[in-house]
Amino acid sequence: MKINKILLKKFLKKQYGIKVKRIKEIPLGEMSYTAILNSEEKQFFLKIINMNKYGQGIAKGLNITLRVNFDLFSKAGIQNISYPIPTIKRKLKTKFMRNPLIIYEYISGRTEGNWKLNKKEAYNFGKLIGSVHKSINLVDVDGLNKENFNAPPHYEKCLINNLKRLEKNNLLKKLISRRIIMNLLIKAKGLKNRLEKKDFVLCHGDAIGENMIVEKNEVFLIDWDGVGSNLREKDLWLHSNNNIQSILKGYKKSYGKFKLNKNALIFYMYDRLLEDLSEYLDKFLLDSDKHALKEIKEYILVSLKKLNSRKKQLTEIAENWNKKGKFLKK
Ligand SMILES: Nc1ncnc2c1ncn2[C@@H]1O[C@H](COP(=O)(O)OP(=O)(O)O)[C@@H](O)[C@H]1O
Ligand SMILES: [Mg+2]
Repeated sequence: MKINKILLKKFLKKQYGIKVKRIKEIPLGEMSYTAILNSEEKQFFLKIINMNKYGQGIAKGLNITLRVNFDLFSKAGIQNISYPIPTIKRKLKTKFMRNPLIIYEYISGRTEGNWKLNKKEAYNFGKLIGSVHKSINLVDVDGLNKENFNAPPHYEKCLINNLKRLEKNNLLKKLISRRIIMNLLIKAKGLKNRLEKKDFVLCHGDAIGENMIVEKNEVFLIDWDGVGSNLREKDLWLHSNNNIQSILKGYKKSYGKFKLNKNALIFYMYDRLLEDLSEYLDKFLLDSDKHALKEIKEYILVSLKKLNSRKKQLTEIAENWNKKGKFLKK
């Protein structure tokens, strides 16, 4: 996306009352235009959503996710998150050349792309995610995504269609077995039906390493597009290899006592893998996106191979925690 910086500066002054001195672009993909804004006093993080096919997906429901994101900071008092800065007219987003524009509080630190939290960071991350989960009653969740445990997964149709197309693609046909994926989909749906549909919490929804910024043992969560009412396991299963015991202790510190549901942990693992595969197949088969192919090879296929050992690990984590974790003091 091409942006005229002079126009953008004028626009930001008018809409936000912020005098931006410098705009430093950070190219992060075709989904959006992102940049660091430097003003006299502080820095901001700018996002302009590219209203192409994928951008439309993000823009849908944006008003609600932005409001919840802002409430988490302003009503629930959660500090370690990025949140949208309101315009002069108190709107959480505005439009620049027809594309949604948001500016966020800037957070400095390392983006935790390699998923290696030390014990202190893991404990703090657990505390943060526990306090987010707990704040479901403090924020206005009207209209927010709520997992519909009775409906088929939202990606199911798209995935099945792409699995059919896959048969015609010589490269992918050899890499991915349609049968294995269909079996996984059936397993995921079976697990989902058996989950206890209670104790919903306010989940971040995409609490992956890439959406964490870490500095001086403090962990911050950014990218709240996936926020929704869900089971706690959705945010926790991801970190089974990331000092999970410290995360769970931190979680208990802010949330209070809780149990882990092993079926929910496993369900969310399957669900995420299928959802991501469906997205990457779509991007590769329809748009020949090279990055999508790389993700299929390096992430999806690798995860598929590890599925059984990961399932065992998640089961152990849940059983262990439910036996001992409750009694841990700290
Ligand atoms: N508030 C912020 N402060 C500093 N860096 C940020 C902030 N928000 C996002 N980033 C950087 O931009 C990257 C992409 O932002 P993110 O909101 O995760 O968008 P998406 O994943 O949808 O592309 C992040 O991984 C992080 O490096
Ligand atoms: Mg992100």
